[in-house]
Amino acid sequence: MDKTTISLTLNGLSDTIRNCQKCVLAQTRTNAVPGEGSPNSLAMFVGEAPGADEDIQGQPFIGKAGQLLTRILKSVKIIRKNVFITNIVKCRPPGNRNPNKSEIDICLPYLEAQIALINPKIIVTLGSVPTKCLLNRDEPISRVRGQWFLWTGGIKIFPMFHPSYLLRNDQTTPGSPKELTWRDIKELKRELDLLKSERDVN
Ligand code: URA
Ligand code: URA
Repeated sequence: MDKTTISLTLNGLSDTIRNCQKCVLAQTRTNAVPGEGSPNSLAMFVGEAPGADEDIQGQPFIGKAGQLLTRILKSVKIIRKNVFITNIVKCRPPGNRNPNKSEIDICLPYLEAQIALINPKIIVTLGSVPTKCLLNRDEPISRVRGQWFLWTGGIKIFPMFHPSYLLRNDQTTPGSPKELTWRDIKELKRELDLLKSERDVN
């Protein structure tokens, strides 16, 4: 598929998601949040589910946690609009409870379609919900973050802490979640630069 077709198809998919009525979350949401960013990105970032701010505006990661994510990306010169950012579940669970298994199962085909269209080299899972969901293993995020996991289609999964977790644990001492995230984002940037140089010679 050429770039224009991919863009058009992604936009059509976003419209479908905005009108989705497949689970109970449709009854309480203000807006579904399909995700946003570049359809040509080498990297996709996948969070858990929209929060209150995202639900109101229909965009992913724009509240306090999202602003921190944007700053983390910026710290290694990753421009937010050049990557694709979305969530496992596209509608806000009431009161920000975790999405349940049935909601995840119903919503997952949307993420799978986005992945198939964007065809990223890397998927960064933010926090334990998307990490467990995609990696299908039950280890705590603290054990798997900062490591590369080979996934379907040669895509690499790179789990990182969720920015909300960093807001609640904001010490920057060695080994703290924030300090580990600083290491992880630099590792991600290193891999992205490598992939970009490979893409540019091919
Ligand atoms: N810049 C890009 O063009 N793509 C990425 O995935 C990240 C940064
Ligand atoms: N937390 C998430 O997991 N996703 C968002 O879009 C916002 C907050």
